[in-house]
Amino acid sequence: MRFVNLDALTYAGNLENVAGLTDQPNYSFELGDITDSVLVERLFDLYKFDAVVHFAAESHVDRSITDPTTFVRTNVDGTIVLLQAARNNWKAGQGLFHHVSTDEVFGTLGPTGLFTLNSPYAPRSPYAASKASADHLVRSFGATYGLPYLITNTSNNYGPYQFPEKLIPLVLNNARQRIPIPVYGKGDNVRDWLFVEDHCAALEIVLFQGSIGSTYLIGGSQESSNLGLVKALLDVYDEKTGQASGHSQSLISFVQDRAGHDFRYAIDSSETQKELGWSPQHSLIEGLKKTVDWYMKHSSWLSNILDDSYRTYYKSQYDNR
Ligand SMILES: NC(=O)c1ccc[n+]([C@@H]2O[C@H](COP(=O)([O-])OP(=O)(O)OC[C@H]3O[C@@H](n4cnc5c(N)ncnc54)[C@H](O)[C@@H]3O)[C@@H](O)[C@H]2O)c1
Repeated sequence: MRFVNLDALTYAGNLENVAGLTDQPNYSFELGDITDSVLVERLFDLYKFDAVVHFAAESHVDRSITDPTTFVRTNVDGTIVLLQAARNNWKAGQGLFHHVSTDEVFGTLGPTGLFTLNSPYAPRSPYAASKASADHLVRSFGATYGLPYLITNTSNNYGPYQFPEKLIPLVLNNARQRIPIPVYGKGDNVRDWLFVEDHCAALEIVLFQGSIGSTYLIGGSQESSNLGLVKALLDVYDEKTGQASGHSQSLISFVQDRAGHDFRYAIDSSETQKELGWSPQHSLIEGLKKTVDWYMKHSSWLSNILDDSYRTYYKSQYDNR
């Protein structure tokens, strides 16, 4: 099996993250933008793909609030470019298009209840709306052109290699630098946390065993308020860095809440578990321990990815090959 990784290496992408794959004979990296239809058509022609797993996205809600247009461009326009290329290159009923999506398309929950396959779409941020649009486009290509597809809607991921704008690496980066750790509002918004390796395991099972035309919900069943999560994470960090318990919690700084901040996400993945035999293998505390270990061991990665000049240099090395 051959794997081709198409990535534009935006601020969130980093070739160092896939350095371990570069020497594999069945792996190729292509630098490029999914909105570039000429490039995407050329890659379909060159590699004769039999499946597309569509991860590429703008993914940070805060950025979608300041710059929604970029989110529509990548997440909606980029998705239609990939879908059109699939339609042009695959005969009806051939190929497989897997859209990696989010539970945020379902909007927000109150203190109880779970998102299910029957939950209506109700996105509330430009990010969520752009991913919802992409989900709809994928389903429409299935109904209209017979495109075989799969959609996965997943809860909040965390773990190694995550860009430090997302909550967990942001907390670890700030704790390392002993600078304030921002927490929105009172920190009572609730998320369902999924360790990234558990997500990847689910994606692999869905891709190879999922029923064509189906949607699978994937969650960690590990709910925590943002404040509870930050405190638990800092406790792990303090323990692993030999500091007194509670030492880093003094860095927590409550800041003005995010506009339209969804109160709670929680997803019912029992149907996925029953049908495909997948279940998350990490409790939140186990996942946090692994994550802290990884970031402590890779502190230079954290500094490098925040350094624009480093990333530009790294990308130019690729451009010049
Ligand atoms: N992180 C989560 O908690 C989470 C949860 C559910 C679903 N998802 C989905 O999983 C996917 C991956 O999320 P992530 O957290 O790794 O995102 P990320 O923002 O960390 O990384 C996005 C990747 O896409 C690439 N990219 C961005 N725009 C591109 C373009 N126009 N053309 C080609 N490549 C482009 C970037 O270079 C980067 O490598 C996304 O589709 C996201 O919506 C993420």
